[in-house]
Amino acid sequence: MEKSEAVDVVVFGATGDLAARKLIPSLYQLYRTGHLPEGSRVLGAARSKLDDAGFHKFMESDARQHVKDADFEKKSWDAFKAMVCYEPVDLMAQASYDGMAERLNTEPDRVRLYYLSVGPSLFSATCDGLAAAKLLNSRSRIAVEKPLGRDLVSAQAINDKLGSLFKEEQIYRIDHYLGKETVQNLLALRFGNSLFEPLWRSGHIRDVQITVAETLGIGTRGEFYDRTGAMRDMVQNHLLQLLCIIAMECPTGLEPDAMRDEKRKVLRALRPITGADIGKNTVRGQYRAGAIAGEAVGSYLDEGGVAEDSHTETFVSICAHIDTWRWSGVPFYLRTGKRMQEKLTQIVVNFDPLPHNIFTDSVNSTIPNKLVIQLQPEESISLKMMAKMPGGRMKLEPVELALNPERGARRRHMEAYERVFMDAINGNQTLFLRRDEVDAAWAWVDPILAGWEDSQDEPRTYVAGTWGPARSSSLLVQDGFVWNEES
Ligand code: BG6
Repeated sequence: MEKSEAVDVVVFGATGDLAARKLIPSLYQLYRTGHLPEGSRVLGAARSKLDDAGFHKFMESDARQHVKDADFEKKSWDAFKAMVCYEPVDLMAQASYDGMAERLNTEPDRVRLYYLSVGPSLFSATCDGLAAAKLLNSRSRIAVEKPLGRDLVSAQAINDKLGSLFKEEQIYRIDHYLGKETVQNLLALRFGNSLFEPLWRSGHIRDVQITVAETLGIGTRGEFYDRTGAMRDMVQNHLLQLLCIIAMECPTGLEPDAMRDEKRKVLRALRPITGADIGKNTVRGQYRAGAIAGEAVGSYLDEGGVAEDSHTETFVSICAHIDTWRWSGVPFYLRTGKRMQEKLTQIVVNFDPLPHNIFTDSVNSTIPNKLVIQLQPEESISLKMMAKMPGGRMKLEPVELALNPERGARRRHMEAYERVFMDAINGNQTLFLRRDEVDAAWAWVDPILAGWEDSQDEPRTYVAGTWGPARSSSLLVQDGFVWNEES
């Protein structure tokens, strides 16, 4: 497809929270920055009975809050708005798809991206409805949000359905973490430099820690979240994808399958956690009332849509191992939670301590090197090293080497969902998941979920505004380590 060729983007779930916060603002930014060609159309579809003007109002009031002032221009916004129309739909009723077909089929040969920002239970009916309305052809693409299913079996059923109507190269399984600038920077760091490669292995790296901590609770998504939990919402997808980017071998190129082959190898080399190892190597928690930055917050059990005796986990930590030569004996600690002390998304690669310390005068001299890749609150990559402090004494202090690209005033930082749309529109699947990756991730997660369900144990509680249950710290202490909690 020519980059200047107009496209149609259909957003199902267009009045939802994700559409307001991320999808519509990202489409606008793509238009504003010249990545959504003139003449393209965006069709919002959702249950609300709105007309085009009503949807524009929704976009303006809600979505506008999520566009930074510096990234908003009235002229381009008006031009973007003129590209957007809306169709009220009942995804279970064929008449809805037929109505949509009337609008869309005025341009039958365009690349058309269907973006499903709806629950996975609606994927199948939506695909069937589109097919029956003859809205699918070889230029159609479908983008689906995670979690894809709730276990391997249900994910396979969804993938079978998608596979019956679309070729694999038409399916875009989204993990927006892969669209984050720092994740791509990490690829550049690992595979655009020869420096790290010889050290990137067991024998030089002591452990890897991946933390995705949020201060937010579950917002208005109580019902969804209570059925889902942190393992399915975050670990099966975002955390495992980050782990893959850290652990994978260098792909032969940046083509989609080259990357995805390497990620899949990592997922398949993850050592299964089953039986007694579930209690030893995993922790699940649920928050109780507490305070974050001085503000009181309630207990998970009091959130709207949550069952009063819910066992759903809002926190998970895991000690994982990858059974390959490269990673033999290196623990990968994963941790994610809602209502934690700070918003912090970071990957910490801890290098081995000095084999022999000659700077015995210096209290800090034994702090091992670490590479900290931070995605949130600020994006940065830094290498913590030791250096001599000026002065007469041979005294070492930790110093930080920032490995961040120059951010000139003109360099706008692209949001993850902008990249997701841009790549799907341009047909680049590198940052989307292939079916076998999703299967491999579920195959690893399923036994842990089943073990938790079978056990009589309830999730461990933690006070909102902390770093999770105490057991999460002992998961590392038992191996002689501690979580990195500095941003
Ligand atoms: C989503 C989860 O995939 O990621 C949410 O469903 C979570 O529960 C969100 O809050 C976090 O994304 P980000 O980009 O804000 O870290």
